[in-house]
Amino acid sequence: MEAWIRDLPKAELHIHIEGSLEPELMFAIAQRNQIFLPYPSAAAVREAYQFSDLQSFLDIYYAAAGVLLHEQDFYDMTWAYLERCAAQNVRHTEIFFDPQTHTDRGVPFATVMNGIHHALVDGKQLGVSAQLICCFLRHLSADSAMATLEQALPFQDWLVGVGLDSSEMEHPPAKFQAVFERARAEGFLTVAHAGEEGPPDYIWQAVELLKVARIDHGVRCLEDPKLVAYLAERQIPLTVCPLSNVKLCVFDDMAKHNLKQLIEAGLCVTVNSDDPAYFGGYLAENFQSLRDHLALTTAEIHQLSRNGFQAAFLPSETKEALLHEVDRFMETVDSAIN
Ligand code: ADE
Ligand code: ZN
Repeated sequence: MEAWIRDLPKAELHIHIEGSLEPELMFAIAQRNQIFLPYPSAAAVREAYQFSDLQSFLDIYYAAAGVLLHEQDFYDMTWAYLERCAAQNVRHTEIFFDPQTHTDRGVPFATVMNGIHHALVDGKQLGVSAQLICCFLRHLSADSAMATLEQALPFQDWLVGVGLDSSEMEHPPAKFQAVFERARAEGFLTVAHAGEEGPPDYIWQAVELLKVARIDHGVRCLEDPKLVAYLAERQIPLTVCPLSNVKLCVFDDMAKHNLKQLIEAGLCVTVNSDDPAYFGGYLAENFQSLRDHLALTTAEIHQLSRNGFQAAFLPSETKEALLHEVDRFMETVDSAIN
């Protein structure tokens, strides 16, 4: 990895905290909770991470989340991710979590919230600011999502928004229109996964029916020129996850990723890790892989880093200060490289 990519100030806007659970920590937590894992070692778990599509990943990801029972488990998982952020100069992160994955197993909503939130508070010592986004699992019912939103209301001070994730095909955004309307009325910002595996129409539904502020993934928008024009004109950000897209076979390999075309179409593209413990890298590895396989220039990487802060749910003064840091950092890189 190039040191300047590691040290570049970065923002991450698309990371599922359950997807940051590394096999070693999964084993340690399973052991203390006396949960049996059907693998002999962390290395064997890693070897099993061969996916053919989104669902083949989700099946393993939900099973692995079964080790998480206590507040300390959620704290330790979140803390480990924040340490990775600090090591890669990720200055700000907006973290998804999937409460239904845990409440459906009998883990109280408050246990999940307390564990994650307390790690985020302690994470300030690491120089990482963080906000939380509560995601609804789209393969479950709209009623279940609404019940989850109601459970989230007492914790609203700890949450910046709500999102929509899990199996995209056959679960269009329209299914959750009423839930998102209620969430917006309660003051939550909204995002949704759309156009990862699903068609451009799901992206239209996310912007028009759910009125999302950002689209998570969105890479299939290029199939619909009117949609591209709409997203570009409004600068609705796409939180693109390159290593994820390759691991889940959205693209055959990184050289075939469409990120450059998305940029050339005038879209606000950001780079993110999605589920870093499963997809072979955190934020810096995603940037490095793009640079290696798509020959991104320092100027393009500079712009991608700026876009991350620009698209963040942060007050404009905070954004300006962070953007200034990015620009100052890139001056030192440009004078060293050019
Ligand atoms: N949950 C975790 N990762 C996801 C992804 N890439 N798409 C949809 N849901 C997810
Ligand atoms: Zn995701």
